[in-house]
Order: sequence, then structure tokens, then C-alpha cells
Amino acid sequence: MSRSGLSSSRLPVVALLFRRAALPIVLGLGITLTGTAVALAGGNVEAGLEASKTCAACHGADGNSMVPTFPSIAGQPAGYIAEQLHAFRDGNRVNALMSPQAKALTDQQILDLAAYFAAQKRVVKAASTEDSIPGAHLWKFGGHSNTVAACAACHGPQGQGNQPAGFPALRGLTPQYITESLIAYRKDERKTEHASIMVSIASKLSDDDIKDVAQHIATFR
Ligand code: HEC
Ligand code: HEC
Repeated sequence: MSRSGLSSSRLPVVALLFRRAALPIVLGLGITLTGTAVALAGGNVEAGLEASKTCAACHGADGNSMVPTFPSIAGQPAGYIAEQLHAFRDGNRVNALMSPQAKALTDQQILDLAAYFAAQKRVVKAASTEDSIPGAHLWKFGGHSNTVAACAACHGPQGQGNQPAGFPALRGLTPQYITESLIAYRKDERKTEHASIMVSIASKLSDDDIKDVAQHIATFR
């Protein structure tokens, strides 16, 4: 019972509207997710810095990871970070390395960690020079006769994300991590409150689409 009734009941409407016009529904979702961000007030950056010491080994001290399979979390929307930490803690998103890290976190620590990492600057260490033309097309315009919304509409033209709306940044995430994430959504393995948005999109992506779009995301600086 991890998903709110809100997400599941909104899903068919979202899927329907995507086919007609991406923009109005994107704005609509923005408003919903902004509500989540506001509800996060109460995170303390200083306390978050203290609590983040145990995260540094894998995600980097400032949330910029050195390891391809460990995602950078610097500059992610606080709402996104908190939602993922709750999901790992409660078993709604599972990863052998990450789940144990979240098990003992209190609600307040989650707020503090989210505030700290959201305030860090994301650094892209090495952008790829090898682009994918179909990947770039999917990113900018969507695909499959408009049944897949353009990724750029929510994640930003250069994958910078949208802090106020709660859409995660993708720049600086490796093709390996992006691929694993999209496959996890496609298999409906991430049960966060807002995952249904991506489940509906990823379920329409082929293996080639995923490979291509991950390659394009790797070119963002
Ligand atoms: C032992 C290594 C390790 C440690 C320590 C660790 N993490 Fe993680 N973390 C991971 C891995 C691996 C993933 C990717 C999981 C997946 O693929 O689903 C992850 C994912 C995440 C995500 C989701 C990122 C996204 O883009 O969806 C967040 C948020 C996160 N970690 C926060 C933290 C915080 C906060 C701490 C410290 C309390 C921490 N992690 C400690 C390995 C680690
Ligand atoms: C309507 C807005 C919207 C569109 C369009 C969209 N996304 Fe997302 N995306 C989201 C949201 C919201 C999340 C966070 C969901 C969650 O809580 O797990 C997300 C998460 C992701 C993640 C996981 C990031 C991480 O750090 O683990 C990836 C990868 C991703 N999207 C890729 C894409 C790609 C590729 C496309 C285009 C084919 C796309 N998205 C289109 C809203 C969108």
C-alpha cells in the first residue's frame, strides 16, 4: 500500500492527456509536486551535513559521486531525495547497498539530509562527446506517435531537473545508472508516490530507446 490513491487515480488521466498535449499536464503536475516540496519545510542544512558523513563514501562528500553505479545526489530537489529515502527505508525501493543505509534514518534526519544535498552544486566531471541521434530526438520531442512525452519537458533541456516541481536532475548520471533506473520503472519496481509518472513513460520504451536516451543524457554538461 505504498502508493497514494492520488498517484494511481491520476495515472490514466495523465496517460490520456500526454497523447493530446504535453504542456498543460506538465504544468498541472508541477503544481502537484510543488505541494510536496512545500510540505518538506523543516529540513536543517547544518544537521544534514552532520548526518551526511556516512553517505560520503559512496555519494561523495558534496553528493557528487566518483563511482558510476552510485548516483550523484547533489542538487536534487529536496522532495525527490526525501521520497527516495523513505522508499528505501520502508522497502518500497530496494537496493542491496542503499537499503541498509536508510533503515535507521528518522523522519527528521531524512528532511535534514534532503535539505543538505539539495543545497549542493551538481558537478558533471566528464560529459560524453558521443551523442545518440535517436536518443536526442526522444529527449527533445518524445516518441512513438506522441505516446511518450518529451523528457526535456520535465527534466529540462540539459537534464538540469526542476527543483520547485520536484523533477530530478539527470545530468551527470551515468548511462549505466540511467539504464538501470529506467528498467526498474519499466518493471514497476520503484514504489514511490511519484514513480507512476515514470512507470507510465518507461513502460513504452524499448531496450534500444533506453540505450539511446541514456547515451544522450551522458552528453549533458
Ligand atoms: C555503500 C554505498 C552507499 C552509501 C554509504 C549510501 N548510498 Fe545512497 N545509494 C547507493 C546506491 C548504489 C544507490 C542506487 C540505488 C539504485 O540503483 O536503486 C543509491 C541511491 C541513493 C538515492 C537515490 C538517488 C536517485 O537519483 O534516485 C539517494 C537519495 C541516496 N542514495 C541517498 C543516500 C544518503 C542520504 C546516504 C547517507 C545516509 C546514502 N545514500 C548512503 C549507495 C550508497
Ligand atoms: C511528466 C514529467 C516527466 C517526464 C515527461 C519524464 N520524466 Fe523522468 N521523472 C519524472 C519524475 C517525477 C521522476 C521521479 C519519480 C520517482 O519518484 O521515482 C522522474 C525520474 C526519472 C529518472 C530517475 C532518476 C534517478 O535519479 O534515479 C530517470 C532516469 C528519468 N526520469 C528519465 C526520463 C526519461 C528518459 C524521460 C523521457 C523518455 C522522462 N524521464 C520523462 C518526471 C518526468
